[in-house]
Amino acid sequence: MKINSAKFVKSVPGDDPIFEDGIPQIAFIGRSNVGKSSVINSLVNINGLARTSAFPGRTQLINLFLINESTYFVDLPGYGFAKLSNEAREELWAMVNWYFFNSPYNQKKIVLIIDANVGLTKDDVEMLKTLEDHHKEIVIVANKVDKLKRKDYGRQMQEIKNLAGTNKIIPYSAEEKTGVEELLAEIL
Ligand code: GTP
Ligand code: MG
Repeated sequence: MKINSAKFVKSVPGDDPIFEDGIPQIAFIGRSNVGKSSVINSLVNINGLARTSAFPGRTQLINLFLINESTYFVDLPGYGFAKLSNEAREELWAMVNWYFFNSPYNQKKIVLIIDANVGLTKDDVEMLKTLEDHHKEIVIVANKVDKLKRKDYGRQMQEIKNLAGTNKIIPYSAEEKTGVEELLAEIL
């Protein structure tokens, strides 16, 4: 499916009437700095729609983007924000945790983004398990494959598969726009 329109709607720190307006939500989650905001930009083909940064912990609110006037892309803060204070980290985690697991809202799909070069970390596996326990619809995006050496590609993808269970994995590069069509087909 093609994206014909995409616009930023709102940043919220927690509960908000927007979550109840009936528009399906597709959430993007993953460790800090894996490229969640970049993946959203690559999907909508607008650089800078979602703010990105080399500094982990860039996204600190729940950001909603309206796609094709009919779906929200929800950009969330990452987990494992090494450079933030414990307090800031816990606050962000509480927000994400609430949205996924303690709010009355459900997501049509959750896009779990990992760094293909790093693979699924302990935090990623824990997140994946928790999402599965809550019966969430998940697709795993292995981002930054452009940085993966050709000779390491097969082995690294296999390692990711071994930890990903039955969930679909899409090799992806937000930078080179690899995997865009496949991910769009999965979520829209
Ligand atoms: P937080 O909001 O801080 O959790 O980060 P994020 O997951 O939203 O990451 P963001 O999109 O801000 O990108 C983090 C860094 O990774 C930036 O420097 C991006 O340019 C870079 N990056 C994102 N996607 C790719 C990719 O596919 N390939 C490469 N080489 N770099 C990427
Ligand atoms: Mg971000």
